Amino acid sequence: MFHKLFISVLLLSSTLLLAASDSTKTVMPKHGFVGTATCGMCHKTEKQGQQLSIWQNSKHASAYKTLQTDEANKIAKEKGFSTPAVETPECLKCHAPEYNVDKSMLGPKFNIADGVQCETCHGAGADYKNLSVMKDKAKAVESGLVLHDDLKTFCVTCHNSESPTIKAGETVDVNALWDKIKHPIPQAK
Ligand code: HEC
Ligand code: HEC
Ligand code: HEC
Ligand code: HEC
Repeated sequence: MFHKLFISVLLLSSTLLLAASDSTKTVMPKHGFVGTATCGMCHKTEKQGQQLSIWQNSKHASAYKTLQTDEANKIAKEKGFSTPAVETPECLKCHAPEYNVDKSMLGPKFNIADGVQCETCHGAGADYKNLSVMKDKAKAVESGLVLHDDLKTFCVTCHNSESPTIKAGETVDVNALWDKIKHPIPQAK
């Protein structure tokens, strides 16, 4: 009896250890990240649709900086985390999801402080950012570009009640959110 209990305690503690080390483990993506500055070299003109400035003026651009505020630290503490919000994986996973990407896959212009950035939503861009690839949608997608035709399922991967600012059962109006951040390429006349 005692023996069995001892073994299950051992098993339990090793599972906990594994869970703890998993959240700090780095992940190795298939494609490298180049950063918003790289995407913005082309996606800033009026003709292209000024995606760079639309994003810069959105809250996504400050999602990481939000975690450096007293308010964020207070929330993290209340949730039982002992680390500052900006070092807490359970916050970073929505506010700066590339926090755990292996450093070798982050280009020199990549900046984690850009928070929820172009490549968070569109996929790591090292292999699709060249003009010849970008101009060929099928090739771009093959090279890692991610497009979303269903905002209802995509946006709620982060905009859900796991966020400490969204109440359980609160309806998230995805279309209203999209109106605030949409950034289309203007139709050619
Ligand atoms: C060298 C210039 C250049 C860079 C750098 C670049 N793009 Fe593009 N991108 C374009 C052009 C040009 C188009 C439009 C292609 C067209 O109209 O057929 C485009 C199209 C797109 C589209 C729309 C694809 C579609 O067919 O619906 C997305 C999304 C996109 N880019 C995201 C990004 C992201 C994210 C980055 C950074 C990782 C990036 N781009 C970097 C030039 C660039
Ligand atoms: C990777 C996680 C993530 C995804 C995916 C995501 N968001 Fe967000 N979004 C956030 C975070 C985090 C904030 C809070 C940023 C802050 O204020 O610091 C936010 C804030 C916003 C805001 C500002 C808050 C408000 O109520 O006005 C809008 C608008 C928004 N997101 C729209 C969208 C839309 C539309 C989509 C889907 C196309 C989307 N987001 C997908 C993480 C995400
Ligand atoms: C499941 C994704 C998710 C997780 C996990 C998450 N957040 Fe957020 N957070 C969001 C979204 C989305 C928003 C903005 C949307 C809203 O509240 O309407 C937001 C907003 C915030 C805001 C308000 C920002 C503003 O502009 O006023 C603070 C502060 C914040 N989060 C802190 C935290 C902290 C601290 C943690 C970790 C304990 C955390 N978040 C974990 C998704 C998340
Ligand atoms: C919160 C997620 C999110 C972020 C951040 C984001 N986008 Fe998008 N983007 C989308 C969604 C959703 C669409 C519409 C559906 C699609 O084409 O994927 C879109 C569409 C586009 C399009 C195509 C527009 C069209 O008319 O076909 C381009 C180009 C683009 N994004 C570039 C960028 C660039 C460059 C950045 C960074 C400066 C960026 N996006 C940041 C989610 C995002």
